[in-house]
This record gives sequence, C-alpha cells and structure tokens, in this order.
Amino acid sequence: MTTTGLQAIKFDKENITLEILDQLLLPYSTTYIPIESINDAFEAIKSMKVRGAPAIAIVGAFSVVVDTHRYLNSKEASLRDKTIQDLITSIDYLITSRPTAVNLSNALNDIKSILTKSHRVHELVNNSVLNSIYDYSVALYEDDLSNNFKLGDNGLNYITEILKSQNFKGPFSIMTICNTGSLATSGHGTALGIIRTVHEKLFKSSGQDFWLDHVYPLETRPYNQGAKLTTFELDYEKIPFTLICDNMASSLISSLAKEKVVKNLSAPVKFIIVGADRIVENGDTANKIGTFQLSVIANAFNDSFQDESKKIKFIVAAPRTTIDLKTKTGDDIIIEERPPNELTTLKGPILSNNSIGDKVTVGISTPNISVWNPSFDVTPHNLIDSIVTEELPVHTKNPKGEFDLSSN
Ligand code: MRU
Repeated sequence: MTTTGLQAIKFDKENITLEILDQLLLPYSTTYIPIESINDAFEAIKSMKVRGAPAIAIVGAFSVVVDTHRYLNSKEASLRDKTIQDLITSIDYLITSRPTAVNLSNALNDIKSILTKSHRVHELVNNSVLNSIYDYSVALYEDDLSNNFKLGDNGLNYITEILKSQNFKGPFSIMTICNTGSLATSGHGTALGIIRTVHEKLFKSSGQDFWLDHVYPLETRPYNQGAKLTTFELDYEKIPFTLICDNMASSLISSLAKEKVVKNLSAPVKFIIVGADRIVENGDTANKIGTFQLSVIANAFNDSFQDESKKIKFIVAAPRTTIDLKTKTGDDIIIEERPPNELTTLKGPILSNNSIGDKVTVGISTPNISVWNPSFDVTPHNLIDSIVTEELPVHTKNPKGEFDLSSN
C-alpha cells in the first residue's frame, strides 16, 4: 500500500529517524524538518507544523522512539543514564501539547503502559524498551493507513446506499471543513479519504445514476486549514472543488438546492463530511471549530426540504482510535483555546511577480483586544446522521436517537 505522495510523516525504520512536512509552509513550500526528540515533537505539534488527530498521535509516538534511540546510543553519560521515569515525565509533557484530540493521549498512554508494565528495571539499559515502543509506533502508523482506506470504502458504500434509497439521480456535491486528508493522517485521510474514494469510484460514466461533481472545502478560520491544506490536496488529486469561506455555507447550500447556478456549478450539496478529534460514548463529536454550525445548517435545511432526494446527510468520519468511550458526553471534552494572534493577524509569504518572499505578519484587527479562540467545538449527536469508521456497519442512531459506539 502506498500513500498518495502528500506525506505528512516520514519515519525511517532502519536508521530510526523522523521527519515531518512543515504544514505552516504549505501550500507554498514542501519542506521536511527533522524531529529528534520529544521536545521537538512538542514544539512541532503545539505550533501546528503537524496537525490532525491521527498525525499528531503518530508523530508523538515516533518521537518517543527516536528520543529513546538517542539516549541509548549517546556518548554522553547524562543521556545514557536516562530512566524510564525520565521518559514518562517527557511523555506527560508531550500529552499537554494539544488536549482535545484523544488519539495523542491514547497513543502516549499506551506507550507509557508498555514502558511501565513490560520493563521492571528502571534504567533504559537495553534495546528491548526501544523494540517494544518501536513495534507499537510502526503499527499505529501502518494501521492508520490501512484503516483509512477501509474507512474510505465504507463511506463510499454508505453514500451509494443513501443516494439509491433517496432515488437521487445526477451530479452531487460534498462539503467539508478543516483538513482531514493525507496531511492529517498517515495517508489517504478520513473525511477527505472518503471524498478521495468517492471521486475515484463515482464519476459521471461510472455506471451509477449519480456521481460526485464538486467538493466545497470551507476556508476554516482562523487557521485556514481548509484554504491552505485541503485545497492543496484536492488540487493535487485533481478533484474539482471551489473554496468558500465558513460563512458562505448556508448561502451556497440554499442556492444550489433552489437550482440556482453558482459559478457554472449546480450540483446540490448532498453530504457534509467532517473529521473528528474525539467522539465520546453518546456520539457527541469534537472537531474543528465551525463543524457544529455546519450540522445546524444541514439539519435546518433538512427540516425545510419536503423532497427526500434533497436531504443532506451530516457524516462524521474517523478511525476507531478517535472514539473515546471513557468520556460520556461532549460536555466533558476539554476544548483547546489557542492564542489571540491567530485571529488578530494573518501570517504568510509575500507573493510578488510569481515568486515567494519572506513571511510576513499582517494585522487585521484593532490591537490588544479581547479575543476568544477555541480550536474545536462539539457537535451534539442528535445533529449527526452517521459515524463512519474502518469497521462495519456504519454507525447510525436507533429509533430513540442514540448511537451505540461500543463496538461494531
Ligand atoms: O487543529 P487541527 O488542524 O489539528 O484540527 C484538525 C481537525 O479538526 C480534524 O478534523 C481532525 O483532527 C481529524 S483529522 C483526520
């Protein structure tokens, strides 16, 4: 199995080195930077050089492997003398880098328990410590990749069933938010993975009565992952798309549903597909800020459509590693708040005469004002139609409106 070429994480299994694609420089520059320690990973994750729930978990896990390798091979006695407890202290610090995505804390807690359970000695004296966490981390990376392809197929089959049951015919569109593609995972992606698979299989002459005509990625303020990263991936894959701002979603959906042509495009939005940072026991889902309002929009439109074939499905796509059955409802999810300057300034390269110059920061608000900048919001389960994972069947609600996520 290969990734699509948009590889966020490069781990060299033989030399035990780790590099990440610096996503702060995308889409203008494809630059890989080394991660040589847990501290490097903390900085890269906190500053969003790597982001997306599965990707940060994988980078976090691999960073423990490279750090342990560094200790064991160091000529410096102070590093060679590091203990399991030193490692655990650093891992606990790494967990705090981004609190909302459950993948990061789950992976790092798993590594902690491997370290404490299987190694009774306190010193990092031999390679068996390294081997155990190496095996865990490589499996995390490889399973994420293969599960994303399964998730994509499950999403495709679910979408096909829905369109058939609605007797829908013709072209349709999909809306998405943030970036949930190869850049946010070990490859292929989750919500964007479904879009990739649907684009590959449901095209105009594919033999079905319906086909994917267009994708609408939302800009995703304030960090603009949709504008910077999702458009980069869609463009790379040659999937037809049009970028919109977050506040254009309802206007676009309404115009297309009323069969108005928007920029020569007319295929109605039939699916809003989003990723997740944490899906809790009752199905409430934390994802990028702005996801909740999309679910409200989908449900409001569905209430107004008489015609079944116009209804929009709001789908959450995530691997099972994002499901947190220990947390009961969305009220218990910690939502990360990010710094005010993400709202009050814009950062980017100077573009002139088709060349890219130094990065600049541009002020776009009154300085030193009060700012609220939550990175995620929680979509209540009642507004979610289905949760697609790598397992089957796709989770839908029972007649009482409840999800059962305990296992498939
Ligand atoms: O702040 P980010 O860019 O890490 O937020 C990413 C998201 O919200 C994604 O939807 C989520 O992590 C799933 S990525 C497969």
